[in-house]
Amino acid sequence: MKNIIEIQNLTVEYKIKEGLVHALTGVELHIQKGEAIAIVGESGCGKSTLASALINLVALNAVKSGTVKINDMEILSAGKKVLENIRGKEIGIIFQEAGAALNPVFTVKEQIEETITAHFGKLEKPELEKRGLALLEETGLNDRERIYKAYPHQLSGGQQQRVMIAIALSCNPEILIADEPTTALDVTVQAQIMALLKKLKKDRNLTLILITHDLHLAVDMAQRIVVMYAGEIVEEGKISQEKDAMHPYSRALFELIPDINAEARDFKIIPGEVPDMTTKENKCRFFGRCATAKPKCGTMHPEYEKVKEGHAVRCFYPVKD
Ligand SMILES: Nc1ncnc2c1ncn2[C@@H]1O[C@H](COP(=O)(O)OP(=O)(O)OP(=O)(O)O)[C@@H](O)[C@H]1O
Ligand SMILES: [Mg+2]
Repeated sequence: MKNIIEIQNLTVEYKIKEGLVHALTGVELHIQKGEAIAIVGESGCGKSTLASALINLVALNAVKSGTVKINDMEILSAGKKVLENIRGKEIGIIFQEAGAALNPVFTVKEQIEETITAHFGKLEKPELEKRGLALLEETGLNDRERIYKAYPHQLSGGQQQRVMIAIALSCNPEILIADEPTTALDVTVQAQIMALLKKLKKDRNLTLILITHDLHLAVDMAQRIVVMYAGEIVEEGKISQEKDAMHPYSRALFELIPDINAEARDFKIIPGEVPDMTTKENKCRFFGRCATAKPKCGTMHPEYEKVKEGHAVRCFYPVKD
């Protein structure tokens, strides 16, 4: 199977007054066409930075190196034209806060029709509207005529997210990146949006990249899980239950309680804190929080190594029981 995305040795650092934030270090990732993968990790571990590197839209204070290829095209060094092409044709992206990502001064109609026109060229008005409404239908919106004419603030959070998805699909992309698409929504709407993403993935044969801090959600949605910790990928593989995971951090993520008992969730955390992202010490980044760490982990930085076909781990002592 062909790789639609190839990331090699990707490093992104943000320049700040105090120095550099090492948001991504030596990221290697290959994604096949039509695959559904999930990128998981705690807040601040670099998930959104990775998503923005995929469309080369990182913040202005970012220094990046390495390569990111989409359909064999190198995008980190690409010019404006190539980037416009990739963003408009190959990749659609949806964010956590649909309300903030949508433009408040334009109606849904204006925003969807703008992206359809950017992709397909100028169309007759009725044809444009027909395509816009069809996209709303595909994302499961009822009451389409009203929603089409509405401004974003006149819609519920769930409706806004469906509109965002419609806009992301309007360029007919091969890849859909969903960056924490449901964290701002209540559990019921969250489940509906996830079901919608699953359906769209299947119907359109999309390559889906789901970014989430919820490993249980990731397992439900994706064939392959990529676990990030403090700017590095620490594990990837077909993981569907705790015993498939070999990195102590991935195991710890499984211990975090799922939705059923929302109150308990607040209390169940991985003890300790994510390391300071402005320093890079010669030790495992999970050292200090790892329940099974040994002295070596505090004096050397582990490489990312293949442990079996399709499974790699950055740990000196991967868990194997
Ligand atoms: N423009 C920026 N300037 C400086 N630091 C930044 C910038 N953007 C992100 N960072 C830092 O880079 C690190 C990675 O941030 P990123 O947003 O990629 O994390 P994330 O995994 O998406 O987190 P979350 O789950 O909270 O969305 C964090 O330490 C963050 O504070
Ligand atoms: Mg993020």
